[in-house]
Amino acid sequence: MTTLDDYTRRAMELDLANPLAAARSQFDLPDNESYFLGNSLGPLTHAARAAVVHALDEEWRNGLVRTWHDGDWLELAGSTGDLVARVIGAPAGSVVAVDSTSVALFKVLSAAVTINKSPTRRVMLCDSRNFPTDRYVARSVADLHGLEFIELEVSEMPRRFADDVAVMTASMIDYRSADLHDVRAVTAAAHDHCILTVWDLAHAAGAVKCDVLDNDIDFAVGCGYKYLNGGPGAPAYVYAAPRIIGSVAQPIPGWFGHAEPFAFEDTFRPAAGIARFSSGTTHVLSMKAMHAALGVINRYPIEDLRTTCIRLGDFFVEGYGTFLSTGGFGLGSQREGARRGGHIALLHPDAERMSKELIARSLIVDFRPPNVIRIAFSPLFLRFADVARLVGELSRLN
Ligand SMILES: Cc1ncc(COP(=O)(O)O)c(C=O)c1O
Repeated sequence: MTTLDDYTRRAMELDLANPLAAARSQFDLPDNESYFLGNSLGPLTHAARAAVVHALDEEWRNGLVRTWHDGDWLELAGSTGDLVARVIGAPAGSVVAVDSTSVALFKVLSAAVTINKSPTRRVMLCDSRNFPTDRYVARSVADLHGLEFIELEVSEMPRRFADDVAVMTASMIDYRSADLHDVRAVTAAAHDHCILTVWDLAHAAGAVKCDVLDNDIDFAVGCGYKYLNGGPGAPAYVYAAPRIIGSVAQPIPGWFGHAEPFAFEDTFRPAAGIARFSSGTTHVLSMKAMHAALGVINRYPIEDLRTTCIRLGDFFVEGYGTFLSTGGFGLGSQREGARRGGHIALLHPDAERMSKELIARSLIVDFRPPNVIRIAFSPLFLRFADVARLVGELSRLN
């Protein structure tokens, strides 16, 4: 019979064999804490701290307004987007860092609807299990354009795809269960009816391979502050397929999306590429943190991130099977790693109390009503030893 001691010993062996183990030293983590919420707010990297301090002391304090032209501030939204592009499998020049995900989604959905709506295409389909902000924003765009708004589960969408649908939108990873949707198949089925696809990668980028170009996605958005570790309120990002970028118009044509912002022209001329999705002045300080954090992620192959993320989750599932499967616990996520994103929903009727007690023991998880403890397996800093400690505490808390 496997004991908790055996399980903990295995964790140490797995940490020694983890090709990403050294990446943890890139993070500035609180002492003696195990952090399972990289899917919510990724932790601080040493690189992000250094970049922000440099931006404050040198670029802002000393350079002042000159830095817009002498430094890299004007290119920052694009260069940060290029670093995101490498993580999500997009070509350089197809991603820009902007706004929040909610605002980015509004822009992208509006752009997609503008391209595709017609007297016979009057429907928008939205993932009914999507994160609330996505559902609010999608409904608003549909209302503004006079489209019928239909919510249904992603797995049901292909059956509803037809020539009356203009746009579909969904999350690649379900934010509650971590279900990984078959983006390639759903996108291909949508394209069979000339439907444009808008995917939210918030819980996917940095934890799974998004392959946006290979999957032929039309548009994508996502958060910078989750697995990308961009910091609280980090910019979101927008991807548009290179085949359509040049013909896209978004609804907030501000000067930072203009072909020549400093020409101060009377009328709007969109930038040639993805930069047209910028609207106002770049959020330099938060973009600096995100840019530096993305530099860290990009040192490691995305395949390794995915593999370690799955192994950490699988190790938890194994511990669940051995130590937690009785006593009221349930698994709200797929057992098979390849069908999961980066986190796992552990179910228990007493989840709220347990989450609080875990946090009091420096095991940082979160509670989602009514009965979910969310546990994320960020591949760059989490250790198998953290997972073993969590399983041990959960087995004692019950
Ligand atoms: C899937 C998803 N989309 C969007 C958001 C919200 O993004 P923002 O706060 O950047 O608007 C979240 C936040 O957790 C999310 O999980």
